[in-house]
Amino acid sequence: MLNMTELYYFSPTGGTKKAGEIFCEGISKNVKTVDLGLRDKVVEKPNGELVVVAAPVFGGRIPSIVAERLNELEGSGRKAVTLVVYGNRAYEDAMLELNNVVKERGFQVVASAALVAQHSIASEVGKGRPDDQDRKSILEFAGKVLEKMERGSDGSVKVPGNYPYKNGMSMPVTPISLPSCKQCGKCTSVCPTGAIRLENNTVVTDAEKCILCMACVSACPEQARILPPPLQEKMEQMLGALKSVRRENEYFL
Ligand SMILES: Cc1cc2nc3c(=O)[nH]c(=O)nc-3n(C[C@H](O)[C@H](O)[C@H](O)COP(=O)(O)O)c2cc1C
Ligand code: SF4
Ligand code: SF4
Repeated sequence: MLNMTELYYFSPTGGTKKAGEIFCEGISKNVKTVDLGLRDKVVEKPNGELVVVAAPVFGGRIPSIVAERLNELEGSGRKAVTLVVYGNRAYEDAMLELNNVVKERGFQVVASAALVAQHSIASEVGKGRPDDQDRKSILEFAGKVLEKMERGSDGSVKVPGNYPYKNGMSMPVTPISLPSCKQCGKCTSVCPTGAIRLENNTVVTDAEKCILCMACVSACPEQARILPPPLQEKMEQMLGALKSVRRENEYFL
C-alpha cells in the first residue's frame, strides 16, 4: 500500500467522491481529500506519493470548473490516476479531456477509469451505484495500479475520446426554489460557482453562473430546490431507457 494519496474531487451530489474514496481505500493507507468545489479556498498542493483526480461527466465533458481549479496545481512529474464518474449514459470525451488537463499541469497519468454512479438528475438511472459489485471491481483496479507503480513502470495510459471535444453543454435554465423554501442559505453556501444569493427573502439564481451541477438541489434540507418540472420530466424521458441498463466500469492501465 502507498502511505499517502491525495484525492482531488469535484462532487456536487456525492457520487464522484464516493467512487474516488473507494479507489483510494484500495491503494493507500492515508488519504487526504481536497474538494475542488469549495469557493474561495486555495487548492492545496499535493505532497503524497499519488494524486487521484476525480470529476463527474456533464454532457460528455468535464465541468469547466474542474479545469479551472486544477490550473492552480503544479504536477512536477508526480504520478496521477484520473477517474471520470458518469450517470450510466456515456462519458464520451470527458476522460480524454481530464487526462489532457492533468498532463498539462505536469502530472504523469499512470491509470484512468470511467466509473458509474447514480445519475444526479434522473435518480432511477444507475440507482444506488457505486454498489457492492462496483466496489469490488474498483478495489481490484486499485490493486493493479499499485502493482504497476511498484514495478516502477512509468507507462502513460491511452484513453478513448475525440479531440476537438464535443461541444460543452449549454442550458439556459437553473434550479428553482419552491414556496416551501425557508431561506436557510444552505444552497448559497454549497453552490460551487456562487450563482445563488438571498435577496429580499427570496433565492435568486444567476443563470450565467449556474452550471446545473445539482449541488443546491441535493443539499436543500427542505426539498424546496428542484429543477423546473418540464426540464425534469424531459430529462427523465430522455434517460428512461437507461433505467434497466447496467453499464460496467472501464479501466485503463
Ligand atoms: C448537468 C449534468 C450533465 C450530466 N451529463 C451526463 C452525461 O453526459 N453522461 C452521463 O452518463 N451522466 C451525466 N450526468 C450524470 C452525472 O455524471 C453523474 O450523476 C455523476 O455521478 C454526478 O457526480 P456527483 O454525484 O459527484 O455530483 C450529468 C449530470 C448533470 C447534473
Ligand atoms: S437550501 Fe432550500 S430552504 Fe434553504 S434557502 Fe436554499 S432552497 Fe431555501
Ligand atoms: S445554482 Fe447551479 S451551479 Fe449553483 S449549486 Fe445550484 S445547480 Fe449548481
